[in-house]
Amino acid sequence: MRARAAVRAKHGSRDSGAAAAAIHLGRRRSSRGEELSVASLVARFEGLPVGVLGDLVVDEFVHGEIARVSREAPVLILDFKSSTFTPGGGANAAANLRALGARVQVYGRVGRDEPGRRLLELFEEKRIDRTGIVRDPSYQTPVKTRILAGGAHTSKQQIVRIDRGPMGQALPRAVGRAMLARLRTRVSKPRALLVADYGFGAAPPEILAAVRPQPAILTLDSRFRVLEFHGVTAATPNVAEVEHAFGVRVRDDDPAGLARLGERLRRALGAPAAVITRGSRGMSLFEKERRPLHFAPFGGDEVADVTGAGDTVISAFTLALAAGGTFPQATYLANIAGGLVVMKRGTATVSGKEILRALDQGPPARPER
Ligand SMILES: Nc1ncnc2c1ncn2[C@@H]1O[C@H](COP(=O)(O)OP(=O)(O)OP(=O)(O)O)[C@@H](O)[C@H]1O
Ligand SMILES: [Mg+2]
Repeated sequence: MRARAAVRAKHGSRDSGAAAAAIHLGRRRSSRGEELSVASLVARFEGLPVGVLGDLVVDEFVHGEIARVSREAPVLILDFKSSTFTPGGGANAAANLRALGARVQVYGRVGRDEPGRRLLELFEEKRIDRTGIVRDPSYQTPVKTRILAGGAHTSKQQIVRIDRGPMGQALPRAVGRAMLARLRTRVSKPRALLVADYGFGAAPPEILAAVRPQPAILTLDSRFRVLEFHGVTAATPNVAEVEHAFGVRVRDDDPAGLARLGERLRRALGAPAAVITRGSRGMSLFEKERRPLHFAPFGGDEVADVTGAGDTVISAFTLALAAGGTFPQATYLANIAGGLVVMKRGTATVSGKEILRALDQGPPARPER
């Protein structure tokens, strides 16, 4: 909460978050003519049809209590306590959209293996439409296993991660065609399509170009090739991904360098907007012909786990756009959602109610140009 207090002191403002947001974030009107505040956008999340196209991952968390140090090697011996499976990667974006109230349709693939079966089961439990998922016998469903260790009464910390399922597994033509066919034959067309390319091959740029009809809102998170997707509405990479894509480094204390990077990204995507997430420094929005808008991190220093924060961010951002929000409004809400989710353990989600409570109780700082 420190950052928030600091910015408010600087502006000397006592405005409520909603009022501050109205001044800085712009508002659109709904089809019935009412102005859409950020809170009214959240109220419109419920039941909005949104598609997710991308790599579906299983996040496994194994919890162990430290028993002693081994005599075989200088390693900890853990007493196994529990293990949990949660949707990861694009599946986590789907879970986040669902938790925010969206009606979610997932397009992607899973292997004919146990993790694939688990994922389908998780979607079923969460009432996420999984009929767009193709079971591909040549594919190994990716699993990221995080081992967490701690004492009986201390919080557990990740000590190692084991990844299964190689990156870049080829997408057989028939599987890609089946995914596209399922997307095309939807009765209720998704209002937006969120693309989650984690490098496992389900969302190559070619498949996106082949999506017909093109949804009005197309958002992108791509771990390794953000610049290869042209014609999206917006992308939400983290700063390291953009630096890597352009082969440059931007220092934290170089806002002009960040502004140039954001503008380069937006142009490369041919997009009206781009967001760069900046971890503990919040996020920045770059819109065509506007000065960048910087959002201080929401919530402050109570960070529990940053796993999957990027998925929560793109989910809230996409849904806010689908609900009729402006880019600044969508980024504002995404920033709150990101700030809330890092306060939770594991791969977690945030609900619309939690966002509304956050707006009510302690609205975030105004973004700065
Ligand atoms: N340490 C932190 N403190 C406060 N907020 C954070 C922190 N880390 C992440 N966030 C919030 O989550 C958002 C996304 O985080 P980040 O930039 O790390 O994305 P990412 O690297 O894409 O995440 P992912 O690991 O899910 O891919 C940030 O913009 C911020 O709003
Ligand atoms: Mg990310």
